[in-house]
Amino acid sequence: MRPAAYKPIVDRLAAAIRTGGLPAGTKLPTHRALAAEHRIALATATRVYAELTTMGLVAGEPGRGTFVRDQHGHDGIEPDRRLPVPRTADLSFNQPPATEQTPQLRHALRELSTSGNLEAVLYQQPPGGRSHERAIVATYLLDRGIDTPPAGVFLTNGAQQGLDAVLSATTRPGDVIATDALTYPGLKILAAARFLEIAPVPLTAHGPDLDALERLCAARPVRAIYTIPTVHNPLGWTLDQATRERLVGIARTQDTLLIEDATYAFLDEYAPPPVQTTAPERTFYISGLSKNVATGLRFGFTVAPDEHARALTRGLRTTTWGISGIVTALATGWIHDGTVTRLEKDRRDDARTRQHIARAALTDLDYTAHPSSYFGWLRLPEGIRADQAAAALAGEGILVSTADAFSTAPHPPHALRLALATPAREDLPDVLERLRATIAAMPW
Ligand SMILES: Cc1ncc(COP(=O)(O)O)c(C=O)c1O
Repeated sequence: MRPAAYKPIVDRLAAAIRTGGLPAGTKLPTHRALAAEHRIALATATRVYAELTTMGLVAGEPGRGTFVRDQHGHDGIEPDRRLPVPRTADLSFNQPPATEQTPQLRHALRELSTSGNLEAVLYQQPPGGRSHERAIVATYLLDRGIDTPPAGVFLTNGAQQGLDAVLSATTRPGDVIATDALTYPGLKILAAARFLEIAPVPLTAHGPDLDALERLCAARPVRAIYTIPTVHNPLGWTLDQATRERLVGIARTQDTLLIEDATYAFLDEYAPPPVQTTAPERTFYISGLSKNVATGLRFGFTVAPDEHARALTRGLRTTTWGISGIVTALATGWIHDGTVTRLEKDRRDDARTRQHIARAALTDLDYTAHPSSYFGWLRLPEGIRADQAAAALAGEGILVSTADAFSTAPHPPHALRLALATPAREDLPDVLERLRATIAAMPW
């Protein structure tokens, strides 16, 4: 096949997709129709779609056809960021693979459409969710070691909304939240919006420096400690039981709340029990289905101490009146029938394989990660700045996050967080090799 036959068609379609002439969701002609339209062989038409698929512009759905992809899903955390070059790999945001989930979703929607009480999803959902759906989540949490009545579980539109509602329920402008010097950027955004002060806790190789935390809490009133004890984002650590108990001890002595973020906790099946189990009276446990099921689902849950239940309910009502009935029905259906537990195991296996690939590709670099997590931390060689490295990588079509996005302290290290979940697994060795070579070629 001469390349000239398919390339101009690929270019024309790619341009139409990028400029919005063919908007997201457009169904493209069948391979046969495309071949007829352009007077090309069927194999050439197939090649056109294969090329557009590789470029991330279209997706084929078995039995249904080829559709223009929504490019926003590739843009990472900043919604208006555009992809710099076509061979783009997004290592800046984790969207675990979702291919097998399209048929699952189609099946679940069909089931939902024939369920006895479909109308109920159109009614306003009570803040925190309907009791039978809270009960499903409470039962699922037993496997994570958390024993709570359904009334202690609050369903949310994702972990981020849970976190926002907890801050709304428990803090006032000017309050201090202690957290790791490197932590989840979503906390920083919320703290800034709510005029909270973040007090950074210095880090050791295995977790927060608890001596420093103790001094901090003794020196000034700290309203809450935000912690990611299992598969820390971005550093990947899982705190051992003794460290968790010491953390709880500090919180109890200083009468400080604990906010435990367990969004990635499902990735470590050997982790000690959640901090919430040691201190249920003062811990908010926040998690969701973004990383174990799908980022676009927007479903989460928060377990709250009794005494904060009313304030949390108010906090949820101020951020959205209620959760989506349809999403909640789908999500709790998948929790109830075991789909979520199955997916969590698949994700752990997938993440482990991706870490093997990363370790093999990045051997001569300072790369650390939890063995079954979806991200890793890359300390750059002396003399290379994180922003320079990120810009050089963007020029090669590789998007990464720099340490400053995660930093709560004044001087972020020169390091990158690599999110490994979004690229296709078979592309990952090549992407990481390009990343390694780009960094190796940087002047320092
Ligand atoms: C540690 C952590 N917490 C919370 C969230 C937000 O999760 P959700 O999509 O459920 O709002 C993320 C998302 O990346 C995260 O990494």
